[in-house]
Amino acid sequence: MDMMTTIANLLADTIKAVWPDAEGLPVADELRGLLAVPPDPALGDYAFPCFRLAKPLRSAPPKIAEALCAAWKNEGTASVQPVNGYMNFFLNRANFAAGIMAELQEKKDRFGSGEEGKGKTVCLDYSSINIAKRFHIGHLSTTMIGNSLKRIFDFLGYETVGINHLGDWGTQFGKMVCAYKKWGKKEDVEERGIDAMTELYVRFHKEAETNPALEDEGRAWFKKIEDNDPEAMEIFRWFKEVTLKDAARVYDILGVSFDSYAGESFYNDKMEPVVQELRDKGLLTESQGAQVVDLSEDNMPPCLILKSDGATIYATRDLAAAIYRQNTYHFDKCLYVVAYQQDLHFRQVFRVLEKMGYPWAKDCVHVSFGMVSFEGEALSTRKGNMVLLEDLLSQAVTKARDIIEEKSPNLENKDEVARQVGIGAVVYTDLSNNRIKDIDFRWDRALNFDGESGPYVQYTHARCCSVLRKAPDFSGVTPDWNALTDDEAQALLRLISRFPDVIREAAAKYEPSMITRAVTDIAQAYNKYYYEHRILDGEPAQAAARVALTGAAKTVIKTGLFLIGIEAPERM
Ligand code: ARG
Repeated sequence: MDMMTTIANLLADTIKAVWPDAEGLPVADELRGLLAVPPDPALGDYAFPCFRLAKPLRSAPPKIAEALCAAWKNEGTASVQPVNGYMNFFLNRANFAAGIMAELQEKKDRFGSGEEGKGKTVCLDYSSINIAKRFHIGHLSTTMIGNSLKRIFDFLGYETVGINHLGDWGTQFGKMVCAYKKWGKKEDVEERGIDAMTELYVRFHKEAETNPALEDEGRAWFKKIEDNDPEAMEIFRWFKEVTLKDAARVYDILGVSFDSYAGESFYNDKMEPVVQELRDKGLLTESQGAQVVDLSEDNMPPCLILKSDGATIYATRDLAAAIYRQNTYHFDKCLYVVAYQQDLHFRQVFRVLEKMGYPWAKDCVHVSFGMVSFEGEALSTRKGNMVLLEDLLSQAVTKARDIIEEKSPNLENKDEVARQVGIGAVVYTDLSNNRIKDIDFRWDRALNFDGESGPYVQYTHARCCSVLRKAPDFSGVTPDWNALTDDEAQALLRLISRFPDVIREAAAKYEPSMITRAVTDIAQAYNKYYYEHRILDGEPAQAAARVALTGAAKTVIKTGLFLIGIEAPERM
């Protein structure tokens, strides 16, 4: 529990003790909201303005403050002083430190974890790449936000299901198979993978301009895929395999995994009953030959279910997928980590589920996010300046390797650390802002070891590890928590004590960046502490306390980095 909540609870008890019968008094939650941090530290760590109690108690605020202070029994937590209608709290700093350190000692790297998710399941649909397309920088956010949210919910005790909803359905795959049959070479696709497939696709479109009959052939091949024709399916499956092998390499580098790869084609045989259900429930209407669900009451364009040729589309598959996931996993939340461009699509799908009468439709959440530009330039496949994720990551590692070579020429496992730092720099950038904001990726910022960056936080973690390595064995020494009453130690302790709440807020808002912020603040606070205090000097009991604080900072930074999907090297 963070300190403000503790104080608010004790204050609520005190108010109750002084005025047991008074009505209309604020409860603990409200009191917490009323607690303030005085601008002048001489006025205490927290202050409670008693004005809010004046009316229900029909008394003057200075009197109330005095009565409350006289009745306060929790000197061990904070001493109090009435000033001008305020009740000012001065934390018992040594006890505060002792409390947090005891909790850390007990929970260690589970500090901040919880059980509140026990028995509940969260499905997360993230990354969700498309077959025969390369993994580019645009896929970074969905992959890393999804990965982080999965770790956060895991940490809070939820059962999580990571789903890569593959884009493996559509007429383009018929064209691709058709082009392969005409011009493709097995060795070529084996060697160059997706690039070879893309070339086939591009050639198909070029030739179709002068030879329109090709389009029919392409459609015929797609029909074969739909009908499970062995030859068509063999090629298509192989394309899928090649794409997934490519992606697996990137997932491996990023440390990302999935529990399911059930993508669009997985729902081929699961849509018929959904369409029938829509029809039975009277939700389908015809519009220019197509079957749609009218959403005009909701001020949305109709949700297309069947095209005029009877073919299903993206939304039909998402309806089937949501129902399948609810029936299979009984999720309490189903999160769709997808760019904001698909905002309308998800609003439509969720609304249709609601109209179908599924109460759990409200548990489907579109976790949307902004665009990534690169060094100030918008990226697009059409403009041909798309940055491939694998290239970006390997450049990051190379650049990190150069910096490490310069900063720590004697480091033993430079390659390994360069990998952790390079990838960390990219992931940190991606998760450093409110997810809905657009991101501009810049090398100088991402790899700035002194700025707010992944490497900076990792470096602080390594610094903590180095202090711990140098520290003598204090196992027989009882730490003197009075050594942690200075402003810098207290600032750090406060951030650490808030960390469990930050994790919960990040989960509630689906916002990993809150954890990025928290680990950065903790790293900054530790560095400030490190520069102003000689950790290993002085009496063993005092040094032991400062070393323990270092250990606490290390643990929390490592956990925070883990929750956003970044590794924490012990030496840098
Ligand atoms: N493959 C899609 C795309 O790249 C994203 C799929 C998101 N998930 C979903 N259930 N629709 O745009």
